[in-house]
Order: sequence, then C-alpha cells, then structure tokens
Amino acid sequence: MSDNADTGTLARLLRTRRSIRDFSDREVSAEMIAAILDDARWAPSWSNTQPYKIAVASGGLKDQIKEQLLARFDAATKLQAGGLPGKLAAFLTRSKALPDGDFDTRFEYPEELTPRRRATGFGLYAALGIAREDGAARHSQMRRNWEFFGAPVVLFVFVRQELGAYSVLDAGIFLQSLMLSATARGLGTCAEGALGTWAGPVREAFDVPPAYKLLCGLALGWPSDHVVNAFNPGRADVAEMLIPIKRG
Ligand SMILES: Cc1cc2nc3c(=O)[nH]c(=O)nc-3n(C[C@H](O)[C@H](O)[C@H](O)COP(=O)(O)O)c2cc1C
Repeated sequence: MSDNADTGTLARLLRTRRSIRDFSDREVSAEMIAAILDDARWAPSWSNTQPYKIAVASGGLKDQIKEQLLARFDAATKLQAGGLPGKLAAFLTRSKALPDGDFDTRFEYPEELTPRRRATGFGLYAALGIAREDGAARHSQMRRNWEFFGAPVVLFVFVRQELGAYSVLDAGIFLQSLMLSATARGLGTCAEGALGTWAGPVREAFDVPPAYKLLCGLALGWPSDHVVNAFNPGRADVAEMLIPIKRG
C-alpha cells in the first residue's frame, strides 16, 4: 500500500466506519451538522442532478417524530398479533399501523444473499447477548430502530423517483460521503432503511415537496461505549464479488 497520507486516512475511515446503534446524550452542534452536509454535497451524481433532499430533525422535533413512529410500530406489532382478522380490520379502517412509506421496505431476499443477511442479524443479536429464541428481546431491539438508537439527530433522505434506480444510487453515494465525513469527526451514524416504513410522521413535520420520496433515514450522534458499537459483520473477499471471464 502507498504511504501517501490521503490514502492511509481514506483506507482507515473506510474500514473503521461502523453502524452505530447506541449513542451518548451529547448533542451534535448545528455547525457540525452543517459541516458534514457541506462535505457530502460534493458527492457525484447523474448529470450532477443531485436528485435528493434531506430533512434534519433534532431536539423536540426529533422527539415528536420518534413518538409518532413508535406509536405506529407498536400498532403494527398489535396488528401482527391479531392475525388475519386484525389485518383485515386495519386495512378497512386505514390503520396508521399499515406502512405508508414511498418505497417497499419488505421484500423477498434472494437465496444467494440470505446467508449474509442471517449472519449479520445473528451476529448483531449475539453481540447484544440476545438469544435466538428470545423473541421479546429481539423485538425490543428492533423497536430501537424507530428511537433512532438514542441518537440526538436523525436525517431523512428523499429522492426524486423519475430518475429510477439512478437517483437511489446517487443518494447512496451521498450517504456514504456523509457517513465518512461524520466518522472523520468522531461522530457515529447508522443508515436506517427501517425509517422508510412510515413516511406520514416525517411529512407532517417537514414541508416535503410532493415529488420527493422517502428513501431511508440516518441516525447521527456521538457513539457511546456500548458493546453493540463494536459489532463488525465483516465483508466478502474481493474474489467473491468479481465476475469471472467466460472461458471457451
Ligand atoms: C441502505 C441501508 C439501510 C440500512 N438499514 C438499517 C436498519 O434499518 N437498521 C439497522 O440497524 N441497520 C441498518 N443498516 C446498517 C447495515 O446493517 C450495516 O451497514 C451492515 O450490516 C454493515 O455493517 P457496518 O455498517 O457496521 O459496516 C443499513 C445500511 C444501509 C446502507
């Protein structure tokens, strides 16, 4: 590896950024949030269209959104327990428990990718000391997604849908830029697809242009020293991602 200082710093940031799922009480200053967004805005995008917008919530507004999202999560939990009749009633009464996100966050995982997903889930619960069969503890941990894992700041990422997959790709590059900028400043982040499940509470709080669709959220704050933050699910080797040349 080159001993160029930039290369070393970038390699370290790329390798040490982890999803942070427990935060300290320390607030993140408005200047810090502005600085991270100012870094991330230099992300490349299709024809430089920058087809995303970000809603930032902290303090009372963040708590308001959190309470509303938790109410929906708890209502959805009850709905699941109510079986088919409960689900039908929810559908007919347009219950707030039903997902109202702009993108579907629940999908069938291809068989090839399922082992990675399972290993990550099991690894996370093992790091937290939660046994596989402890449904209640797993459920409580799942609920933490909608508490933003205790982060003092939450960001919601919106994209214009007309660019199809490419606006989502652009938003992903933006997000990684933002996460690396945050990591470089000692902050922690967790990208949260879970926050795409219910859009209502976010749209109630922010004047979101109708053409912009909620893609995901991101928890932002100072990492606590909780053991969950040391969880590293690792990565496949480069060889595993390379597509071989056809032979013969
Ligand atoms: C688009 C996206 C959505 C994610 N959604 C969630 C989520 O809803 N909840 C969660 O705990 N982690 C979520 N993650 C974090 C991933 O689980 C994590 O990036 C992956 O396991 C690799 O771990 P690392 O980020 O610590 O390297 C998400 C990550 C990305 C990029």
